[in-house]
Amino acid sequence: MDALEQQFQDTVDGDGRIEPRDWMPEGYRATLIRQIAQHAHSEIIGMQPEGNWITRAPSLRRKAILVAKVQDEAGHGLYLYGAAETLGADRDELLDLLHAGKQKYSTIFNYPTVSWADVAAIGWLVDGAAIMNQVPLTRCSYGPYARAMIRVCKEESFHQRQGFEALTVLANGSPAQRRMAQDALNRWWWPSLMMFGPSDDNSPNSARSMAWGIKRFSNDELRQRFVDATVPQAEWLGLTVPDPDLRYDEETGHYVFGEIDWTEFFEVMKGNGPCNRQRLATRVAAHEEGAWVREAAAAYAAKHSAREVAA
Ligand SMILES: [Fe+2]
Ligand SMILES: [Fe+2]
Repeated sequence: MDALEQQFQDTVDGDGRIEPRDWMPEGYRATLIRQIAQHAHSEIIGMQPEGNWITRAPSLRRKAILVAKVQDEAGHGLYLYGAAETLGADRDELLDLLHAGKQKYSTIFNYPTVSWADVAAIGWLVDGAAIMNQVPLTRCSYGPYARAMIRVCKEESFHQRQGFEALTVLANGSPAQRRMAQDALNRWWWPSLMMFGPSDDNSPNSARSMAWGIKRFSNDELRQRFVDATVPQAEWLGLTVPDPDLRYDEETGHYVFGEIDWTEFFEVMKGNGPCNRQRLATRVAAHEEGAWVREAAAAYAAKHSAREVAA
């Protein structure tokens, strides 16, 4: 290890922050760009399953909340693409990689939202799982990523609560509404557990990310925390978690849960989930149709800076 590398590792080990101008190993930079890009892509693709319900929200209040939430996700994408740019990545290139299917986004967004209860379940479970994953990232060793996560997590916690509140109304409503709520939990439970990624013995890059202070807890640890926090919430709602093997272990104080279907996870990852093609096609179309907006914004910025130079 040379002096620069030693200094880098000392900063990380001492819980300090690495900033854009600091020296960093190329592997660290590349890992962060890949992770932050994947995270940014997930935020903007994640607008689709819920955006799908904006025109069909059951009341003006629900519509206003949903519009605000979907807009927040666009903002999260922006902070994250911004964080990736501080590492030397080019935003247009990252989007090109997403559109070409060469960079991934979270598999969870390849599932359809077939009823209004799915929107509620996404807030409760998907944003809930995102919080479990992202709170430790507020202490990640890379400064701009950690700082972006602080704001993102505050907004995610609003998302989680609004989902849970919407589901509370359904779970206490008519028999048909209760069935909708239960169906949504049945559909979203397992994909939400998959959001934490493969189990630890099948997650080869985790150790390196831990040594670099990017990752603080293993996938299985975070998944367990999510299950422990969420099962009592499902009980409170009067809903049944769709897992016959689920039980509380008095000795460990944790819930024991059934086997995750990893074949499904890897199939969705490969592009064979129920909505992969649709999500990517919608994203590409939105990008192409938005070209005039980007051009107009760039022309405005150029005019503005020309005026500043003249003044
Ligand atoms: Fe988000
Ligand atoms: Fe969110």
